[in-house]
Amino acid sequence: MNSSAIHAGPVIGSPPPPPWVDARTPLGRLIAAALAVEPLRQLLFLQARRMMIRTAETRGIPWRQRREQLRQQAEPLLSASTEAAVVAPPYYRARFHAYAEGNLCWDAACEAEQATDSVALRVWKEEKQLSPTAAQQRMRDGIYAAIQPSLRGPVHNVLDIGCSVGVGTLALADWLEQHGHRGVRVSGLDLSPQMLAVARVRDTGGRIAAWHHGAAEATGLPAESFDLITAQFLCHELPSDATRAVLGEAARLLRPQGVLALVDQDPEAEAIRAMPPALATLLKATEPYLEDYFRLDLPAALAEAGFSAIRRVASDHRHRVLVATRP
Ligand SMILES: C[S@@+](CC[C@H](N)C(=O)[O-])C[C@H]1O[C@@H](n2cnc3c(N)ncnc32)[C@H](O)[C@@H]1O
Repeated sequence: MNSSAIHAGPVIGSPPPPPWVDARTPLGRLIAAALAVEPLRQLLFLQARRMMIRTAETRGIPWRQRREQLRQQAEPLLSASTEAAVVAPPYYRARFHAYAEGNLCWDAACEAEQATDSVALRVWKEEKQLSPTAAQQRMRDGIYAAIQPSLRGPVHNVLDIGCSVGVGTLALADWLEQHGHRGVRVSGLDLSPQMLAVARVRDTGGRIAAWHHGAAEATGLPAESFDLITAQFLCHELPSDATRAVLGEAARLLRPQGVLALVDQDPEAEAIRAMPPALATLLKATEPYLEDYFRLDLPAALAEAGFSAIRRVASDHRHRVLVATRP
């Protein structure tokens, strides 16, 4: 992690959304108009997917091979990963990431690991020799280093919400263990049984205490039972009301002095604000709540949910971590 890239300080409001997000700007209007035409939208989805796989395989991520391998191993774990009483809210059933069934399908689950490696490589795209594993490690190290100053004393019980296939959950568990939180119990929670089945396959050492199937806004887990809750790349997949509900639930789940950390795209990052229009169009075609994410004043929402000592840290030049404490 490049410490000179780190900005940390008291949070004072939220920046305006990037220009390509705002449907009221000429560029934003053009993008919205293109996405409103269904055949064009379909074409954009297809383009986004092709581009993603091609770029990833060029950079050493065996996208399709890994997908088949994970699917074979994960399918038998689906029923063990499904809580029958859990009902996914309607917003969750939207089309995400070019998958018609959003996060509730095998393709999404068996490509999530490859997709997050691609995200990590894109952060340092000028370093052509960087391996996907090294990029992933560097991205996660930056995130957890950002959280560390808010942790007061040993962390015993941790929940990673929107854990997907567990890349961040496992990285966090390792990082905590290596940074003095011996015997820490880390659990993951997600609404997609397919993602959770893949997470179980990836958790080869049984390192994670529990993989919960549930909604982050209504987990059903006991109040005041966690020292740390992380939401790594979850908020940009939520409409604003759902984000507010998730913050409320996190406040309920945390012990006094417990810490909540939200990692996601940094609206203040130049790399995000100045995204080329073509790329921005593809991104908007595959992320239904991106505009909500950038429009929501997350620091203010954290304060409204009762959090204090809110810090913003740019963990790399595309992502920020908002770290907040439950009084
Ligand atoms: C981009 S992925 C998260 C990536 C992962 N946390 C990581 O660090 O690599 C977003 C995940 O959030 C999950 N998700 C979205 N809305 C949710 C909700 N309301 N409750 C629980 N999980 C949710 C999706 O199923 C998906 O797996």
